[in-house]
Amino acid sequence: MASVRYTCPMILTASSENISLAGRILREEGLVAIPTETVYGLAARIDSESALRMIFAVKGRPADNPLIVHVASIEQAHSLVLPAEREVLDRLAAEFWPGPLSIVLRKTPGLSDLITCGLDTVAIRMPHSQIAMSIIEAAGGPLAAPSANRSGRPSPTTAAHVEADLGPGIVTVDGGPCDVGIESTVVQIKDGLIVVLRPGMISAETLASRSGLRVSDAKSTTDLLASPGTRYRHYSPTAPIEIVDTVEDALEAVRSYGTNTMILARQTYHALFAGCLTGSLTEHDLYSELRRADDLLVDRIVVLCDDTMAGKPALLNRVRKAAGIGIDEDPGT
Ligand code: TXA
Ligand code: MG
Repeated sequence: MASVRYTCPMILTASSENISLAGRILREEGLVAIPTETVYGLAARIDSESALRMIFAVKGRPADNPLIVHVASIEQAHSLVLPAEREVLDRLAAEFWPGPLSIVLRKTPGLSDLITCGLDTVAIRMPHSQIAMSIIEAAGGPLAAPSANRSGRPSPTTAAHVEADLGPGIVTVDGGPCDVGIESTVVQIKDGLIVVLRPGMISAETLASRSGLRVSDAKSTTDLLASPGTRYRHYSPTAPIEIVDTVEDALEAVRSYGTNTMILARQTYHALFAGCLTGSLTEHDLYSELRRADDLLVDRIVVLCDDTMAGKPALLNRVRKAAGIGIDEDPGT
């Protein structure tokens, strides 16, 4: 395994010198945590087997959970997939890239199995973050990057979150708090139909209306197995999470659990929980609020998911996963 040693602060400002340094570390087969518009990613060059292995080791990531490849040009994306996939790739890319959409397509034979975990497909996205794009360019090629958290923890939306999870040994380029705050929408194209494997800020409706393709939801076991990451407990703080759907139930929960409880709710409800610790319930803030709950050593987190959550499937998906709902009881996370 290549060993790369640098003596520099581990959280770097996103200056052009530091972006060049990040590129050098990646070209020399090291890892760099990079900001994207969704969450921070832990990046490696796709042609470095040793760096790809390090990603799994550093994160404690299950070996069967494949990585998203981040590209800075459509040509890079083309080089990763079978020629027959280019048409649909171009169609989705023209509408949604750069942006928070990962597209799963049949991969070219040369791509490392460490990225795809033996699947015949690869997930690709072009990030909207200019810093991420500059780092891919400085690294001289596409970067495989899962979220830069310890596996099972909430995804990091600041450089400090990355350091808290992965320790001071990982060089992180600081792009400030992520704009989106939850991970990209992951879609697979099957027989001309879009299957949403992981909901995100780009909704199924937007995908359908802007691409002209029909969207089907991944409900069957076969489809869920197509995206191994959906099987695992994710995004979880240490404190247990309870989901309630009315203000009355939330107040009752506080009465029974005591005041060392954090309530995550829409801002309009906060005044009702005077004397309690409250936090924001938005895509942008969810992960940082879950981490704040752990920092404050709260006993329990109560999330008030009222009717408006039906219109926010990606946020609801992350809250449910954090609470351990809708996943296999797989201990491998
Ligand atoms: O916004 C994001 O997507 C962030 C930033 C860093 O880009 N990345 C991210 O990566 O969330 P990660 O590794 O935490 O989640 C990747 C998801 C997992 O659920 C994984 O199973 C799925 O994408 N995935 C990757 N390759 C796949 C493939 N070939 N087929 C199906 N699912 C795949
Ligand atoms: Mg992740």
